[in-house]
Amino acid sequence: MRHMPDDLSATAPAQSPQDPADYRKALACFATSVTVVTSRWQDQDWGMTCNSFSSVSLDPRLVLWSIRKAASSLEAFTQSGGFTVSVLSQSQQGIARQFASGDMASRFANVPVLRQSSQRVRLSGAAAWFDCQIHQLVDAGDHHILIGQVQAFGQQDDASALTYWNSRFGRFEDLPT
Ligand SMILES: Cc1cc2nc3c(=O)[nH]c(=O)nc-3n(C[C@H](O)[C@H](O)[C@H](O)COP(=O)(O)O)c2cc1C
Repeated sequence: MRHMPDDLSATAPAQSPQDPADYRKALACFATSVTVVTSRWQDQDWGMTCNSFSSVSLDPRLVLWSIRKAASSLEAFTQSGGFTVSVLSQSQQGIARQFASGDMASRFANVPVLRQSSQRVRLSGAAAWFDCQIHQLVDAGDHHILIGQVQAFGQQDDASALTYWNSRFGRFEDLPT
């Protein structure tokens, strides 16, 4: 019978793919759009830049994103009952950076928004938006996954998407056929 070592990690090479920096580098190869998610909690607007957004189901209409458990806005997003996703357009790179740090007042400073009937805001000039009620919260490692049921949505036909790849903002370009 073949002998298996008790601790498999002891046999791992020095340049192990288990390395957290290598893992992040591999994940960064996955290009995404960029969104700002917002919520209304304790009479305040909350917002953060997010690229973990994804569609889950068409019928019913469900979408998801994940939030770091250490985020200062964790409670605002998990306890408020809903969130709005604004999919950023190419001209909103500055907004993507603005919503990734600082306090809430500085994130929303000089950013045009529209208040919806849900009381949550969405960002003016977004390529698309989805206003959602929390459908399910999933505890997942150092993040929570928020699954939302879409209550209202919209899009702008002429907007082009802001993209994020290898930790850089960019734009989508058609390839020659
Ligand atoms: C392009 C980009 C995408 C991000 N996506 C997420 C995400 O999906 N989930 C998340 O928790 N943080 C994400 N972040 C980080 C948050 O925007 C940032 O940590 C947060 O706004 C800081 O909030 P805090 O002060 O509440 O911790 C992203 C940041 C950038 C620049």
